[in-house]
Amino acid sequence: MDERTFDRTDQHASVIGLGTWQLGADWGDVDDKQAHAVLEAAAESGVTFFDTADVYGDGRSEQTIATFLRGRPDLRVTVATKMGRRAEQLPQNYVLENFRAWNDRSRRNLGVDVIDLVQLHCPPTPVYSSDEVYDALDTLVAEERVAAYGVSVETCEEALAAIARPHVASVQIILNPFRTKPLREVVPAARAAGVGIIARVPLASGLLSGKYTRDTVFAADDHRTYNRHGEAFDQGETFSGVDFATGVEAAAEFAALAPEGYTPAQLALRWIIQQPGVTTVIPGARSAEQARSNAAAARLPELSPETLAAVGDLYDRRVRDQVEGRW
Ligand SMILES: NC(=O)c1ccc[n+]([C@@H]2O[C@H](COP(=O)([O-])OP(=O)(O)OC[C@H]3O[C@@H](n4cnc5c(N)ncnc54)[C@H](OP(=O)(O)O)[C@@H]3O)[C@@H](O)[C@H]2O)c1
Repeated sequence: MDERTFDRTDQHASVIGLGTWQLGADWGDVDDKQAHAVLEAAAESGVTFFDTADVYGDGRSEQTIATFLRGRPDLRVTVATKMGRRAEQLPQNYVLENFRAWNDRSRRNLGVDVIDLVQLHCPPTPVYSSDEVYDALDTLVAEERVAAYGVSVETCEEALAAIARPHVASVQIILNPFRTKPLREVVPAARAAGVGIIARVPLASGLLSGKYTRDTVFAADDHRTYNRHGEAFDQGETFSGVDFATGVEAAAEFAALAPEGYTPAQLALRWIIQQPGVTTVIPGARSAEQARSNAAAARLPELSPETLAAVGDLYDRRVRDQVEGRW
């Protein structure tokens, strides 16, 4: 699988990585055996970038990755985690003392002395403009607790604030065929500054696989049941902020655009990695089969300009009004 580097660090990432929120919680039941099989399938398919967070299953995702990698010393995987969401979401909690404590816990969970990449996990908006916050993050690097840091953001404005900072290595943002706004300003700005882009929620929480109908029911402990309207966290994280009924209809149209030999999910992933400036895309997977199929998208032929244009047109007609002004 092709690898790309984050220009501001020497970290590398396979162009298709793996999101591991599913291995923690919030997606219905994924048992330890299944979680291990997902990691194994991804690694065997050439994936060398895992995205996790201290809050996914309150550490379960980080610990599962640590157990897996301990058993596979032959692998060379960059592990990016996130911090901040276990605390009350107040700007005054984003201080060096807390960063050190959060970092200590993640280092224990991951079983490492130095974390490859730590990301602020969608903190309150003022945090992205605070000099003290970036000074504290620089201190974590100077103390050799983390090799590099980045941010995960909800909005394009938050991304642009972070890209302006000299030592931010990466910005993680929702980018998919139902969320194309970052392509207009954020991705070009990141590219010009040498900031890596980690594209998350690439399948719009599974919508872009085209497999759901209006009647699909998700488990009670799946955010696709309990966060459809942003009840627990930002609405954009669930189906990319698109209302489910609209999303199902638009996904059916999207699926029809898949060239022969592509699944709709692979079309979405291929569309993302073809955007100049994207470093890696991190689809979540609940099974080994999904992880394998997602990684395989990296080996598919390039999409034609006609297909790229048709995806853009679908966004404009069906989805733009719901998401463009909000994130
Ligand atoms: N604030 C943040 O920083 C933040 C927020 C959200 C996500 N993330 C990161 O981004 C990663 C990706 O986002 P996400 O997991 O929320 O959404 P996603 O990748 O868009 O969707 C994942 C879901 O898509 C379905 N799927 C995956 N592969 C498939 C395939 N090959 N064929 C058919 N269906 C497939 C599965 O749904 P089923 O379960 O229905 O099978 C899976 O649970 C996360 O795992 C996490 O690491 C970060």
